[in-house]
Amino acid sequence: MYYLDPKIEKLCRIFDQNERKDYLRLDLNENPEGLPQEFIDKVLAEVTPQFVSQYPETMHFTEVLSDFLGTDKNHLCLVNGSAEGIRYIIQAFTEPGGRIVGVVPSYFMFQVYSEMYGRDFVKVPYNEDLNMDVENIIGALTDDTQLLILLNPNNPMGNVYTDEDFEEIMVAAQFHHITVLVDEAYHYFYPKTFIKYALEREHVFITRTFSKLFSMAGCRLGYVVGWPDGIKMVQKMCTPHNTNAFAMKLAEAVITTPGMLDSLLQNFKEGRQYLTEALDKNGYLHKGEAGNFIFIKPKTDAQTIVDRMKAEKKILIKAYPNVGKFGNCLRVSIGDRKYMQQFIGALKELDR
Ligand SMILES: Cc1ncc(COP(=O)(O)O)c(C=O)c1O
Repeated sequence: MYYLDPKIEKLCRIFDQNERKDYLRLDLNENPEGLPQEFIDKVLAEVTPQFVSQYPETMHFTEVLSDFLGTDKNHLCLVNGSAEGIRYIIQAFTEPGGRIVGVVPSYFMFQVYSEMYGRDFVKVPYNEDLNMDVENIIGALTDDTQLLILLNPNNPMGNVYTDEDFEEIMVAAQFHHITVLVDEAYHYFYPKTFIKYALEREHVFITRTFSKLFSMAGCRLGYVVGWPDGIKMVQKMCTPHNTNAFAMKLAEAVITTPGMLDSLLQNFKEGRQYLTEALDKNGYLHKGEAGNFIFIKPKTDAQTIVDRMKAEKKILIKAYPNVGKFGNCLRVSIGDRKYMQQFIGALKELDR
């Protein structure tokens, strides 16, 4: 008997990533500049036919990564982009019909995976002033909640948690026996981390990615941090050889090349400083202190600006509808100063 899961049939997915190569891409929080060409050439020069023909081995890179993080490798599971790790955690740590609590707006795949597997995603919205009320999160936690998803910092809101607020949430989650997933995709742009919870407690996971500051979104590499028994469960979910050899080789080179991460971060900081000063000078309300993205309240219609940026300026950005006091607004990824100059020039022309 032919069968199709009705949940998959109903699922709404947007596959817009195949039409972006001729644009300045400020819509998905990648690094528009990328790693230095000579650095990539040097890494690729070491690739041999056997390197390509063999299945990838993960142990060596897991050790490099655990040294880098200052932890033991039994706390880590490599995944094919952190989105894969998020999917596995939802699959393994919640059941069909199970209750998942998450803040909105945030990274959309939490809701997509919840729908895909028939979970009940309960949304905790931001306040009108675009702040997250910790009491609202805690208030949404019940005995039948199986997973709480937090982001540190949150995409697209850029908000963060104080130590006290985070601890309060974790105490409530523990009280109700709820697994907590903290998405730290944007960690390096905002150094404060809650990784110690994933290393010291059970039922707390952190996901991280090489797609953002490490500038390797095309390679698909991320990792899950958690308690060893939880990590074993995530590992069991993985497709065989899920992380590819090129990605691990490049990531190792980024980690072990002195100054590489600092220089990526420095370029980003210069871009952010230029962008925020230019927005202030031109009277724009903006928000986004913690990630490599910024929310901007435009003076005219957000969707029209997005459409015209694409058609007339070859720049991709995103519109978000009804975001508290920002109303319909723009989210723009932050990159090197030269890209921010290009964006500001286009915004001044189109938004009037
Ligand atoms: C908050 C958040 N988590 C996870 C991801 C997925 O990243 P990856 O490329 O590692 O799958 C993204 C991508 O934009 C994101 O914004």
